[in-house]
This record gives sequence, C-alpha cells and structure tokens, in this order.
Amino acid sequence: MAILKIARMGHPVLLAQAQPVTDILSPEIQRLLADMVETLEDAGGVGLAAPQVFASHRLFIYYVPASRADTGTQVPLRAVINPVITPLSEDTILGWEGCLSIPGLRAAVPRFTHIRLTAEDEDGTPFTQDLSGFEARIVQHETDHLNGTLYPMRMADFRYFGFNEELDRFPLPLPEIL
Ligand code: NI
Repeated sequence: MAILKIARMGHPVLLAQAQPVTDILSPEIQRLLADMVETLEDAGGVGLAAPQVFASHRLFIYYVPASRADTGTQVPLRAVINPVITPLSEDTILGWEGCLSIPGLRAAVPRFTHIRLTAEDEDGTPFTQDLSGFEARIVQHETDHLNGTLYPMRMADFRYFGFNEELDRFPLPLPEIL
C-alpha cells in the first residue's frame, strides 16, 4: 500500500470526465482502492474520489463518522464504483463541505436532501440504496468529482465560503433556504 499524492484545485485531472470501471477485481483497481484507503486515513477527510489521486476512474471511497450520521451510528468506510445518482425529491439543503483538493477552506453548498445511489461495491456486486442527510451530501460531492465538478462550482452564495480557521472563530449560521 502507499499514500498517494492528492491533486489540488487547478490541476486538470480534477476537471476531467472519469472513465467507467470495467474490471473491478483487477489488481490495478484493487490496489488503487487500497492505496486510497491509506491516503484518506492519512489526510483525514470523509471521502476521496479516484481523480483526486490522479486516477481518472469512476470510483470513490467514503465513510460517515458517528458524530455526523443521522442515526448516530457511523457508516463504515466503503467503496462506491460506477455510481449513478437519482434525486428522490427536488428539495435541496445547504450544508458545509470541504475537499481534500481545496485544503483549508470550506463552503456552504446546496445538495439534494434525498437521493438513490446505484453502484457496485469493491467485489463488483451491484447495489441500490436510498440516502439522506450528510451521507447523501458526501455521495453527491464525490460523484461530482467523477464528472469534473468541484464544490465551488455548486455554490449559490460566496459569502458562505472561507478558511476553516476563520469560520471556526466566527461561526456563520446557514439560512434554511438560499
Ligand atoms: Ni472533494
């Protein structure tokens, strides 16, 4: 395993359309997944998409810490491959997001509140799951990475964009609707 370099905003790999994964069980993809797990643990985020480590494949990993989970129970680290997202309602909600490719900053981003995720896991087994809350937000953020979209491209109001250290000092309440 290896800790991989993380691409930062401005690198063209983050703007590319990533390619579908055709052989999930290949040594190349399995090694990539293992390296991404190690990279995420080292970097300390909640999600990491393959383009962020210069691998233009349609896959990401994520987890939800218990403190951020709707149910209070953590969602353990998992792999999501070839994801397709369908919004289950038109409702959107603002929430704070950061990105390992945009270090030190966070912003309020509107996302669908309820989505259906259809994808494959690391064994190539297809699954469909309905998601809400912070987990739905993470999955939308990571799927955006596979389509060359970074969270600033989704922002509706740039007042809710700042450095983590300043936003920690001066907490900024979010409006219900933007
Ligand atoms: Ni990100």
